[in-house]
Amino acid sequence: MNKKLKIGLIAAGIAVIAAGIIGGGIMFANDNTEPIDMGGKKVLVAYYSYSGNTKAVAEKIQKFTGGDIFEIKPAKAYPANYNDVVNLAQTEKSQDAKPELMDNGNTEGYEIIFLGTPVWWYTMASPVRTFLSVNKFDGKTILPFCTHGGGGESSTYTDMQKLAPGAKFTAGYTSYERSAKDADIKKWINESIK
Ligand SMILES: Cc1cc2nc3c(=O)[nH]c(=O)nc-3n(C[C@H](O)[C@H](O)[C@H](O)COP(=O)(O)O)c2cc1C
Repeated sequence: MNKKLKIGLIAAGIAVIAAGIIGGGIMFANDNTEPIDMGGKKVLVAYYSYSGNTKAVAEKIQKFTGGDIFEIKPAKAYPANYNDVVNLAQTEKSQDAKPELMDNGNTEGYEIIFLGTPVWWYTMASPVRTFLSVNKFDGKTILPFCTHGGGGESSTYTDMQKLAPGAKFTAGYTSYERSAKDADIKKWINESIK
């Protein structure tokens, strides 16, 4: 066999093995994004996120459930400076503030609502307080989730329940910053909709 042909065959062999590894990886990844059967119910994934952590979880939930996604946005953006937003959020919490939203969203027609928030001062972020106050939740199932910076969910879920007393709340899914795992999110959803 001439040298060029030999090198060619070795290269082709490596390409086949590489394709197998990459292909296997993709199949594995696909396995994680396989849709969950939501029993034909209409699903909404509503979330607020200041720095992207909660958004990342919301987007995974949307992918797994095939639901509609709605980003809760305050009409007036929070300051970019971290200390400023921490201070403002503390004031808002003390006043039980419900800041105006860019768009209130609409929960009508949805039976299952995932509701996500970062933990702000041991509870939900203020825009989520507004979202709960301006929308209808009676008879709906709310699957709450949050991300936090080390303190856990604190009063987040119990405070949400007070603002939507007519809704059925499942156990929440709590994760530290970006640590949420696909398998854990899916397990939580599957157990919550049983
Ligand atoms: C205003 C403010 C208040 C916070 N308060 C808490 C808190 O009480 N407990 C906690 O564990 N983390 C707290 N954090 C950290 C966030 O909950 C955490 O970084 C979260 O993952 C951010 O989510 P996001 O990227 O979706 O905004 C706070 C962060 C901010 C900006």
